[in-house]
Amino acid sequence: MRIRHWVAGLALMGLAGTALAQGNVIAERREGLKRMGAHMDAIKPVAEARGDVRTLVPRLDDMLTFFRGLPNLFPPGSGTGDTKARPEIWQNFADFQTLDARLVGQLETLRTAAAAGDAAAFAAAYQVTGAQYCGACHRNYRAR
Ligand code: HEC
Repeated sequence: MRIRHWVAGLALMGLAGTALAQGNVIAERREGLKRMGAHMDAIKPVAEARGDVRTLVPRLDDMLTFFRGLPNLFPPGSGTGDTKARPEIWQNFADFQTLDARLVGQLETLRTAAAAGDAAAFAAAYQVTGAQYCGACHRNYRAR
């Protein structure tokens, strides 16, 4: 009897621990994604004005690091709670990763143009990034 209680207690603690860990990963990815949105907003006026795109390299480095690790912030079971992640993510995880990898490729193009100070190439690439690369994933995998 006593052992059974003890085992049940451990199982409950395990469940609570999982819920906590998933709450953390949801908060962590949402915070990071907000920061990515802020980078895109800050980049916009510089791109449009054909300004000094070299100053954008640190933002692009932060974006590259974040999006390279993005799939790890969507572990199985983290689709419930305070999140807009759609269950389709875990049904099509390879596709989700492909869309993320495409964005990473686009960010590499942006970083190369920024480091070279090529404002025209930068602006052309930036112009399609939000709709084609961020939006491609949001359309299927983020709830409204
Ligand atoms: C591979 C898929 C994917 C890509 C690519 C992607 N996102 Fe998202 N994004 C999501 C998902 C899924 C959510 C919902 C996350 C949640 O609520 O847990 C989200 C949510 C967000 C949010 C809302 C965060 C919040 O909770 O307030 C912002 C802002 C955001 N993304 C910005 C961007 C930007 C900017 C880009 C491109 C530079 C981008 N995302 C690219 C999948 C993606």
